[in-house]
Amino acid sequence: MTIVTTDTSLLSRTGTGLPGDRPQEAVATNTHGLHMITWGCQMNVYDSARMTDVLRPLGYGPVDSPADADMIILNTCHIRDRAAEKVFSELGRLRLIKEERQATGQKTVIAVAGCVAQAEGEQILARAPYVDIVLGPQTYHRLPEMVARAARAGGAVIDTDFPAEQKFDFLPENAAPQTVGNYTAFLTIQEGCDKFCSFCVVPYTRGAEASRPVASILAEARRMTESGVREITLLGQNVNAWHGEAPDGSIWGLARLAEALAMLPGLQRIRYTTSHPRDMDDALIAAHRDIPALMPFLHLPVQSGSDKILKAMNRGHTADEYRDLIRRLRDARPDLALSSDFIVGHPGESDEDFEATMQLIRDVGFALSYSFKYSPRPGTPAAGAPLQIAEDVKDARLQALQALLREQQDAFNESVVGLTVPVLFTGTGRKPGQIAGRSPWLQPVHVDGPESLIGTEVPVLLTTRLSNSLSGTLTQEFARI
Ligand code: SAH
Ligand code: SF4
Ligand code: F3S
Repeated sequence: MTIVTTDTSLLSRTGTGLPGDRPQEAVATNTHGLHMITWGCQMNVYDSARMTDVLRPLGYGPVDSPADADMIILNTCHIRDRAAEKVFSELGRLRLIKEERQATGQKTVIAVAGCVAQAEGEQILARAPYVDIVLGPQTYHRLPEMVARAARAGGAVIDTDFPAEQKFDFLPENAAPQTVGNYTAFLTIQEGCDKFCSFCVVPYTRGAEASRPVASILAEARRMTESGVREITLLGQNVNAWHGEAPDGSIWGLARLAEALAMLPGLQRIRYTTSHPRDMDDALIAAHRDIPALMPFLHLPVQSGSDKILKAMNRGHTADEYRDLIRRLRDARPDLALSSDFIVGHPGESDEDFEATMQLIRDVGFALSYSFKYSPRPGTPAAGAPLQIAEDVKDARLQALQALLREQQDAFNESVVGLTVPVLFTGTGRKPGQIAGRSPWLQPVHVDGPESLIGTEVPVLLTTRLSNSLSGTLTQEFARI
């Protein structure tokens, strides 16, 4: 899973000028500045966008600088390392901004959202009493009410319930969707997790697994495509465990949803993340063969290649079962590229176990990977397990693992040089005259080309591999547009 750190000016959306782009709906003009700071996974990026949506009718609009903000939301992540300490240090910085603004008679509401808020709500208010609102990931639809309560009471408001109502039912129907870039968007379809891997906080911070119903997903996807979105990434902590109720009462799986989405006019690309190997069923494997819009790139974290560690992690499959799954996926879609997450130094991991992970990587071949040193999370089973691994051992393993993964990533990027592939252009490149986009395998690609191609998918001859991207040339016919 990609971990992002964004001061989310990217979440602000102004009209793109694209054909089919909708004007911003007429809501209260922005009278209050809202500064959003987003840490963590794509789901937090999505949640930040939705919080921006629910606050817009109250007159809040995005501002780039916290010094201009009447409200600052820090959307936090608890997955690794000293997550809480990082939050308190950022809050210290925000406190100074609040005090400076106070000195000139301006009020600033500070809200802490996301997974640290869920896990450490009370401690946040105890240690940082200048925080006005603490809200968990399941309650952002109640944010307007919390803002009103904070203003009335003058004291702090905390809401870390796992409410019975689904927050998705409270999304403002007509809000122009916030999109990442303008042509690609995240859409959360499933949230929470019941798998309780030994090392992971997510089941505690995001609650039990819940799937959004089909109609609400399709309606949101339609709003996105009508506003110019060409690529949707479906999000879930276990996105392929999604099973949503259709209007006729039947239950759909992800393959069926992808099929329905592929019929939406304007939607050219569908991705989904993060998948769990255990939930990769035959229908979804077949969907990779049958649905061209389903991109040939799959993030399928395996974490370890040792059966002993996979068992200790409670992952529910063996290394060979994973190898077999990859084989079936590649049979269905031969150009499928894979990415994964790895953890080194889980309690009990011997040199032999680590070597089994290296072997799995050599056997499978990954186009991209994220790898982490095991980080004990309070309250999770692995944190209290015997045989914790020394930091220097974790460091050495991580280095060796990352060197191998880097080699594989470079080899994959090299292997596409010389191919002509469709690239969805989403913006301008770094240099003047350049436009940039993504290949089907999520590689950043840039070419010299006209801005009129932004928002479209056109063939590009990939010519050069750079360290983390590719450059290419437009086929002549498009170069002339
Ligand atoms: N649901 C996804 C993972 C979500 S968390 C899955 O099951 O694969 C994203 C990634 O963070 C995980 O894949 C894992 O590699 C990493 N991670 C989670 N908890 C961790 C911990 N305690 N220490 C180190 N890495 C961790
Ligand atoms: Fe965490 Fe495991 Fe659930 Fe993934 S499947 S979110 S790693 S508990
Ligand atoms: Fe972090 Fe919560 Fe996502 S812990 S990775 S923000 S689900």
